[in-house]
Amino acid sequence: MATAQVVLSNDRVEVLQAQLGEWQNLNHMLVCKATQQAVVIDPFDAHFWFDVAATRGLHLTGAWLTHSHWDHAKGVEEALEMGGEGFEVVVHEAEAERGWDGPHTTAISCAPLVATALQVGDLAFEAVRTPGHTPGHLTFLGHGVIVSGDCLFLGRCGRADLLGGDPDALRASLTHLRGRMRNLPEDWLVLPGHQYELDDGSNPTVLTVGALLASNAAFAALDDDHAWNALPFLAFDDDLATRARRDRAQRG
Ligand SMILES: [Fe+2]
Repeated sequence: MATAQVVLSNDRVEVLQAQLGEWQNLNHMLVCKATQQAVVIDPFDAHFWFDVAATRGLHLTGAWLTHSHWDHAKGVEEALEMGGEGFEVVVHEAEAERGWDGPHTTAISCAPLVATALQVGDLAFEAVRTPGHTPGHLTFLGHGVIVSGDCLFLGRCGRADLLGGDPDALRASLTHLRGRMRNLPEDWLVLPGHQYELDDGSNPTVLTVGALLASNAAFAALDDDHAWNALPFLAFDDDLATRARRDRAQRG
């Protein structure tokens, strides 16, 4: 039975994390303590998060998508129904380039590496467009956390070989994030879209900015073409890659 864990709590913000589904997906909830309003990021299961909100006396006002892959957007339709009038679903409009036509209420349109401001109650967060895994991938930053979806995992980065993927765009996005992170407090937390094991055999769901900057294999390869091109996780030989090749061919 999945449970939501508090990964950060201070006077203003609370951040919850839960691993849901069979693909090691990590979902996150951002809570404004002053207003008791909350937003869920990449809901796999809308019922789970509405239950969490009800138990904690929170008003769940919206869902934000880092990107539109099925395992991140699965709960959105149900969340929209459960949230009723005023419930906001935020996605970047470029996700349409990979065929996303799912429900949303707000389509962000910022250029790559540019941020759009988003609000949870009284709290402002940034949605930075970080393409490469998908065209309209967003990374959410603010109040001590970076919710990095499938752009940046704790030990490595996301794959760039699916429909709408682009390794050069991913490299630029990661270079941008690394620059941002070098200027953030080292104790900010990075919260990725999947719980994947690290090379040392540990399997954390969160790392500090300081720890990630010191250890992430994709970050370490960014400045060297040979090292970057040799990364084993930018593309995989699997069914998803086969389907992406077929979809690309069909689109001409
Ligand atoms: Fe993904």
